[in-house]
Amino acid sequence: MTVTGSTSRPPDTQAASPEDTSSGLRPAVRLREVSKIYGSGATAVPALDRIDLEVGARELVCVVGASGCGKSTMLNLIAGLDRPTRGEVEVEGRAGLMFQEAALFPWLTVSRNVELALKLRKVPKAERRERVAQLLETVHLHDFGHKRPHELSGGMRQRVALARAFAQDADVLLMDEPFGALDAMTRDVLHDELETLWLSRELTILFVTHNVREAARLADRIVVLSSRPGQVTAVLDNPIGRPRRIESPEVGQLAADITARLRQEVRRHAQR
Ligand SMILES: Nc1ncnc2c1ncn2[C@@H]1O[C@H](COP(=O)(O)OP(=O)(O)OP(=O)(O)O)[C@@H](O)[C@H]1O
Ligand SMILES: [Mg+2]
Repeated sequence: MTVTGSTSRPPDTQAASPEDTSSGLRPAVRLREVSKIYGSGATAVPALDRIDLEVGARELVCVVGASGCGKSTMLNLIAGLDRPTRGEVEVEGRAGLMFQEAALFPWLTVSRNVELALKLRKVPKAERRERVAQLLETVHLHDFGHKRPHELSGGMRQRVALARAFAQDADVLLMDEPFGALDAMTRDVLHDELETLWLSRELTILFVTHNVREAARLADRIVVLSSRPGQVTAVLDNPIGRPRRIESPEVGQLAADITARLRQEVRRHAQR
């Protein structure tokens, strides 16, 4: 991963054809002709339709698409929580999942919530305390280890969830709208923290969001899904160098481009 300075170049977004879904990097996640149908017979719900996608090692790829188009389904399949109806899902190494809700255990302290992820990985007790302290330091919550989740703000809870996600030491981190419920300022800070953590590790991130500016701010590439059943309609390379600011004109322009594609898709769906 190379970090480049901010660019004044306007985003000349290259929309690869939907068939060209590879990054050119060693793949960390590969979906081949993946379809998912929930149920069967008259009540069957097709959620995903022949998804082909490759996410390269150390890439940060964002997935955008209308509500109900199968984004969470796709992450669950990659996480191994469910099986595709057809097609193949391959993941290099271990996948970790961060949900939209912080999903912390309310009866455990912040430290214990993070420690649990280490315990599940069988990290020895002596090491765990130090790792928890490091992780809480990284998300600026070192003074809050003894608190319980209800004593924290929503943004702080998401930070704990972020620390816990990193404690999984996954090779591929799957993030399902992790910052969707947060105010813009908190989200902005967490974008910076996530980016710093990602750049400092051998980590691949697949990040689902409704927020097109968030996608333009974070992603190396942006995958646009069609309305349900989800199909890949476009894969956009992000031409904007890092560091990026969510309020920059370049990010705004790319976000407008993604929005136009989503609108087109919604219109196409309405005419079916
Ligand atoms: N376990 C399930 N059983 C039956 N249908 C399901 C199940 N999970 C999801 N679905 C259906 O599959 C479709 C895709 O759902 P999914 O949760 O993947 O969408 P999404 O893109 O994540 O939506 P959102 O943006 O609202 O989170 C929806 O129509 C949903 O009702
Ligand atoms: Mg979802």
